[in-house]
Amino acid sequence: MNTTETKLTPFAIDVINGLEKKNKSLPSKYFYDEEGDRLFQQIMNMPEYYLTRCEFEILAEQRKEICDAIGAFNASFNLIEFGAGDGLKTKLLLKYLTDRKADFTYYPVDISLHILDELTADLQDEFPSLQVAPVHDDYFGALRQMGNFNNRRNVTLFLGSNIGNFHYDEAAGFLKQFVSNSRSGDMLLLGVDLQKDPGIISLAYDDPHGITAAFNLNLLRRMNNELGADFDLDKFGHYTYYEPASGEVLSFLISLENQLVYFPDSDQTISFEKNELVHTEISKKYKPEELEELAISQGLKPVSHFLDSKNYFTDTLFSV
Ligand code: AVI
Repeated sequence: MNTTETKLTPFAIDVINGLEKKNKSLPSKYFYDEEGDRLFQQIMNMPEYYLTRCEFEILAEQRKEICDAIGAFNASFNLIEFGAGDGLKTKLLLKYLTDRKADFTYYPVDISLHILDELTADLQDEFPSLQVAPVHDDYFGALRQMGNFNNRRNVTLFLGSNIGNFHYDEAAGFLKQFVSNSRSGDMLLLGVDLQKDPGIISLAYDDPHGITAAFNLNLLRRMNNELGADFDLDKFGHYTYYEPASGEVLSFLISLENQLVYFPDSDQTISFEKNELVHTEISKKYKPEELEELAISQGLKPVSHFLDSKNYFTDTLFSV
């Protein structure tokens, strides 16, 4: 430990804990600094990353059915969105709701302050009558807050297959906390990528443009910028594979040679062997029945499934 007693940030602590393990790993939530946000935008625009287009199609074509199913015009409500990002897809719903004078407040939740500030300014511009109350927190912090917003019904959006970035047990834990912070009648619209042709899934995470690789490698750059580490980005690569039996895309950084990396704040040196992997992300794809089973086991009731025309992706509505 550094004798100057530097106070380590949660990021620094998570990084050191992950890199000291026998099988090294880093939490994927740290992808999203300003550069990570920018690269993720590029991923969403790639032809190979079908997820965004499929969900956009669902929300564009079925917004009336979705808004009716959530009871948007019956009484006032809170529209909470976990991992709001740039709001591109959600704007389809927001426009439909504001045009028809639905009575609601929109609570975008995001861990990235930068993207949340941009989104709030953008929404105020585009929808001057919309009430926006941004929540800068991670998912679990926001779950704790949402029970205390007010007495109105909560309708929560968790889109983009963000739930796929949890292991199955973590997803169950997330839904359990969601239910325990909800009231009867609250709803959840969950966007989930479904299992399909493995070739299509693999290509979405190993694109020929190298954008996903840059997104993964940006985690090293972030550690250099924020923790003063001395990763040489040319000495790591991006490795990913899809495992159809579990429905999991697993992503890794791979060390291209034996090397040492120094973290000045904690005065620690981490060694990497040639071909050693650092697990950075899981992107789980569900079977429809597996998704229902997961949600039902945590006390949620499926109300409707909204699928795209290729049946690649579902936005499934659950009630508490
Ligand atoms: C944010 N999340 C749902 C993306 C996914 O598909 O797992 C992140 C991502 N990672 C690589 N490409 C996109």
